This record gives sequence, structure tokens and C-alpha cells, in this order.
Amino acid sequence: MKSLLKNLVKSSFHWKQTLHIKDKLQKDWVTYEPDLIPPLALMRQEGISVLEEWFRWAEEWSMFLRVYGGITNNSAVLEIGCGLGRTAFPLRYILSADGSYDGFEICQNKIKFLEQTFHKAYPNFRFIWANIHNTFYNPDGEIRASDYRFPYADDSFDIVYAASVFTHLLPEIAAHYFQETARVLKPEGRCLFSFFLLDNYQPGKPRPLGFNRPDFNFDYQYGSYGSDFALVKPDNPEYMTAYSLRLLEQFATQAGLEFVQAPVTGLWSGSASSWVGAQDLVILKKSK
Ligand SMILES: C[S@@+](CC[C@H](N)C(=O)[O-])C[C@H]1O[C@@H](n2cnc3c(N)ncnc32)[C@H](O)[C@@H]1O
Repeated sequence: MKSLLKNLVKSSFHWKQTLHIKDKLQKDWVTYEPDLIPPLALMRQEGISVLEEWFRWAEEWSMFLRVYGGITNNSAVLEIGCGLGRTAFPLRYILSADGSYDGFEICQNKIKFLEQTFHKAYPNFRFIWANIHNTFYNPDGEIRASDYRFPYADDSFDIVYAASVFTHLLPEIAAHYFQETARVLKPEGRCLFSFFLLDNYQPGKPRPLGFNRPDFNFDYQYGSYGSDFALVKPDNPEYMTAYSLRLLEQFATQAGLEFVQAPVTGLWSGSASSWVGAQDLVILKKSK
């Protein structure tokens, strides 16, 4: 690479152009399709401060979808709150042209990035912006999440998943999203949703790694949910939220979804000696 750069400089390239080429060589070293990796400024908006968080989380969800979701290369998949396409990124290795990925998201700049990059490279990966209100991610949003109809036909997906999205939603919205998920899932279709389960939260207990911060102190109750729901910042309720399993079982039953197995415990709470992913994973299917 050094000699290539030297030659480029020698052949009287403008230095800025040379830097651009050097940048590109470094980007190519990071991934096979560097254009699908968002710029740092966008990453930071998603709370990603180290590139490792992009790849590690992506692979974690690819594994969840293969092991617990039963994804195949011709599955029809929906992601709620697709962010910058971090979990779509590894799915390009799984879904063939006969499969499809749809994602919707409430931050317009994230969808703009995905339309200009991912969708152009993989037309069967489609992204939709919905200007839904969220106190943390989209405080100026005009649509109430609890009124939002997912823009897809009934019975159209094999899998619906949400990676760290219910961790930023209030209970009324979560209940509605369970209903909408059941509507758009095919019978027997699966959903994988990650949560911070209050059943695993032990106030005051030191938590591992980055979770050992006040950002994960679920110490405030909300509305009439008592000990079944908690949040971290009462002045910004959707900053971070946590649910009891009991409340999720209610939402599931009301929506016509059933638990496939017990939740898969995550690392975050530090309450388990064995864990699979970072957050707790709930696996449901649409009742027949
Ligand atoms: C922690 S990020 C995770 C993003 C993505 N799922 C990932 O795994 O990289 C949470 C995402 O949920 C989105 N979000 C928040 N409220 C939402 C809602 N009501 N409906 C859909 N997405 C929402 C946010 O805009 C944000 O992109």
C-alpha cells in the first residue's frame, strides 16, 4: 500500500486526492462493502462509539435470527426500528434475491443513508421512514406511535424482529406494536424482540462492562404499571425502558402471539452466569 501511495504522489496527484484514495484503501480494509458502513457522525447518533459495536451487534442478531428465528435464504423479514441497517448488514449474506428485508425507522437521516447505499446495492432490502414521535429519538415526530399502522399487508412476513427498540418504548406503544406485529406476521411466523427484563434487574448490583452506568438504572415507575414497567429518566421517558415478563405475556396474549420458549437471558443485568446476547431476547410466534 505504501509504494502505491508513493507512486500516486509522484504522478503529481493533488494531495487532497491522494488522501481520498488513502482513506478508501483504509475503508476497504474494514469491510467488503465500505459504503454500507455509516459515517462516524451518524453512528454516534445511534450510540455507537466504537466500530466493534457495529460488527459485534450485527453478528449477534444474525445468529439470533438463524438459531431462534429460523431464517432461510427466501424468508420475508421485517425489522421494526432498523436504525442505520446494522442488523440488515449481515443479512445480505443470508437473504437471496428470493428473500426480502423490510425495515422502518423514525429518524429520517438514517433512512436517507440506507436508501442511498444499502437499497441501491440490494434492491430487495427496502427502508421506510415514519415520522413517529419518541421522546429520545424523535421528539419532533408528528405521528403517535400507538396510532401507527405498520405499512405492510396482513400475513406478509415470516419473521418480525426489533433489536433494542422496545428498550425505548412506553407500554401503550409496545402493546400496540405487538398487535401490529401479529397482524403482519404469517400464521406460525416468529418474532424476536429484545428487552431489558425487570425480572433480571437487581438494583444496586454491579453490572458488567458498559452496562455498569446509571443509564441502566431502572428506578422509576410510570403510569399505572407498578412494578411491571420502569424507566431511567422521568423527564425523557423513552430514553431507556424495561418490562416485566408478566406484562409482556399479557401483551402477547392480547395480540394473538405465544411464547415459543422462555426468554434467552442477556449479559446486561449481570444476573446470569450464562448468557447469549447483550439484552434479554423474547421469542414469540403467531398463534394459528
Ligand atoms: C438502539 S437503536 C437500535 C437500532 C437498530 N435496531 C440496531 O440494532 O442497530 C433504537 C432505534 O429504534 C428507533 N425507534 C425509536 N422509537 C421507535 C418507534 N416508535 N418505532 C420504530 N422505531 C423506533 C430509533 O430511532 C432507533 O433507531
